[in-house]
Amino acid sequence: MGFTVLDHPLIKHKLTMMRKKETSTKDFRQNLDEIAGLMAYEITKDIETQKILIETPLAQSMQERISEEIILVPILRAGLGMVDGIRQLIPTAKIGHIGVYRDEETFEAVEYFNKLPDTIADGYVMVLDPMLATGVSASAVIDMIKAAGAKKIKLVCLVGVMQGIEAVQLKHPDVDIVLAALDEGLNEKNYIVPGLGDAGDRLFGTK
Ligand code: URA
Repeated sequence: MGFTVLDHPLIKHKLTMMRKKETSTKDFRQNLDEIAGLMAYEITKDIETQKILIETPLAQSMQERISEEIILVPILRAGLGMVDGIRQLIPTAKIGHIGVYRDEETFEAVEYFNKLPDTIADGYVMVLDPMLATGVSASAVIDMIKAAGAKKIKLVCLVGVMQGIEAVQLKHPDVDIVLAALDEGLNEKNYIVPGLGDAGDRLFGTK
């Protein structure tokens, strides 16, 4: 599996709005929602479908419907900002939640919340986090999802850097990574540069 950076003018434009430091919480949230929806259209290209026989007003006809359960797993808390945009396109998606924090001494990701649908083993799982920085949280969350039985997993992020991509790929070569933008690198505090700042704070207006 590899990584893909989506190339679409609407995504680029909306991401530019999100990056600007003067963008309000309301506009940041709305653009994140919209980008997530646009990404979902692209990401779900490989969802399995099955043929079913239906009746239109005119004839019987074999048509297709999605045959996999889609499960969204936002990484708390910034990942929550990507849920609604995707759910508008896939209203039947189930939603799990995982929260991890970074231990200041070991730099390891520590789980503080984990609630996943019990059908996760057979689902098509999309892990959501706007920022793929060091890849430590994303890798740990994918570990947890695999421990729950998930086999088909995609990591969906808005902005990422090569360091994070490589860290996830090293531990999880079977996971596809999809991004809206690939940025230059990390600063000394592990923030993505140019990035968009702290996605959680900007989304929820906490700073
Ligand atoms: N998390 C964020 O919210 N922003 C970054 O730049 C990196 C990680």
